[in-house]
Amino acid sequence: MLESRLERAAALLARLPAQPLLGDANWAALLDAVTVQETQLFRSPAQLELIERRLPPLLLRARAEGRALRLLSAGCATGEEAFTLAAIGLHQARAHAPGAAVEVVGVDVSRPALRSAAEGGIGLRLGAPLANVPAQYRAWLEGEGGQPFLHPSLRAIVRFERASLLELPVSLGDFDVILCRNVLIYMDNMARGQVVTGLTERLLPGGMLALGVTDSAPGGAFRPAGLAVFYHG
Ligand SMILES: C[S@@+](CC[C@H](N)C(=O)[O-])C[C@H]1O[C@@H](n2cnc3c(N)ncnc32)[C@H](O)[C@@H]1O
Repeated sequence: MLESRLERAAALLARLPAQPLLGDANWAALLDAVTVQETQLFRSPAQLELIERRLPPLLLRARAEGRALRLLSAGCATGEEAFTLAAIGLHQARAHAPGAAVEVVGVDVSRPALRSAAEGGIGLRLGAPLANVPAQYRAWLEGEGGQPFLHPSLRAIVRFERASLLELPVSLGDFDVILCRNVLIYMDNMARGQVVTGLTERLLPGGMLALGVTDSAPGGAFRPAGLAVFYHG
């Protein structure tokens, strides 16, 4: 598998312009060929519990401001992380801030991953896709016979967009919570710093950036003041 990936990548590399743009056909094909889409519903559940606990005040604030709570899955792969955030957001809204709206955006560079995400085919390639889903979230994600199922309410609040975390479009707006996990591990120091700085600039006041345990940011990448950053495995 690695060999065939490298063969495809080598052929595409030779056809790249000096500074490829995201829309360049060969660059897009290369990104499709070399990116790793491993993901899971409720991956790293301990960190998600931390986010869950911080949502009620953020939901109440968003509702008071007359806007939706905004959550970003940065490097969303096939969408499981975005749908996980949607389930947590809606569940917490029902429990603590009835009537509060929730909006989730998933961003990635991989076209096949985004196609799969848009189709909502959660966990199709995994052996036990619901293994990490806590009991209180099962109704959102489990159908008859214990099969993965995407509740229409989740589908309705999640959208996906192709963009690079190295240059997020301004049109994405700002977020209350940004989850960026198992993405920076594939980048060099300069790119990691650029991504983390860019993501912190997209946080609403009091917002929260959650990085995976492998997604360490190089020193100096943060703007200091009052920013909540959580690393967790
Ligand atoms: C291993 S998956 C992680 C998925 C999910 N965040 C999780 O932890 O389960 C990494 C994803 O990051 C995406 N990615 C890598 N570099 C990116 C970039 N510069 N901009 C957007 N997405 C990127 C890849 O295409 C891939 O889908």
